[in-house]
Amino acid sequence: MRIAVGCDHIVTDTKNEVVKYLREKGHEVFDEGTYDFERTHYPIYARKVGVRVLNKEADFGIVICGTGVGISNAASKVPGVRITLARDVLTAGMARKNLNANVLGLGARITGIGLIQNIIDEFLNTGYTETKENKELIEKIDGLKTECEEIQQVNFFDEFIEKWNQGFYHD
Ligand code: RB5
Repeated sequence: MRIAVGCDHIVTDTKNEVVKYLREKGHEVFDEGTYDFERTHYPIYARKVGVRVLNKEADFGIVICGTGVGISNAASKVPGVRITLARDVLTAGMARKNLNANVLGLGARITGIGLIQNIIDEFLNTGYTETKENKELIEKIDGLKTECEEIQQVNFFDEFIEKWNQGFYHD
């Protein structure tokens, strides 16, 4: 499978482990960053992963931050993304089965790497079960489109990133 993975600076080590784990299993991985532990903002990486899925370059996305909450919220704003933040295997499987979820959110300060690997396996190995109810619910969810036409513009965050690089922002 083609899988896009993104994270914030809090959990880069876990993201690297996840990327390695997926590659060892034979998946094609887009490592969307971040790549170090320097302070950054997770919406940048959430968007990169979401757009890969939106553009059908990736079959699935995985986003990771400290709790998983922030980056999952950000990824869910990308049209076509159906995300589950999962802290257990059952949730990940149900989200695939019923929601045809295409992005998995993880909190690496909450969930250990062993469980993260089990959650990822369940997410990737569970198929969508198309029923009339599931189909109708997904259509309704996808109908709640984010009103953000710029989302597919490649340069959406460029101005922000440039200012960041110039030291414009301070914590
Ligand atoms: C740090 O930015 C922290 O807020 C983030 O990793 C995540 O836990 C947010 O939900």
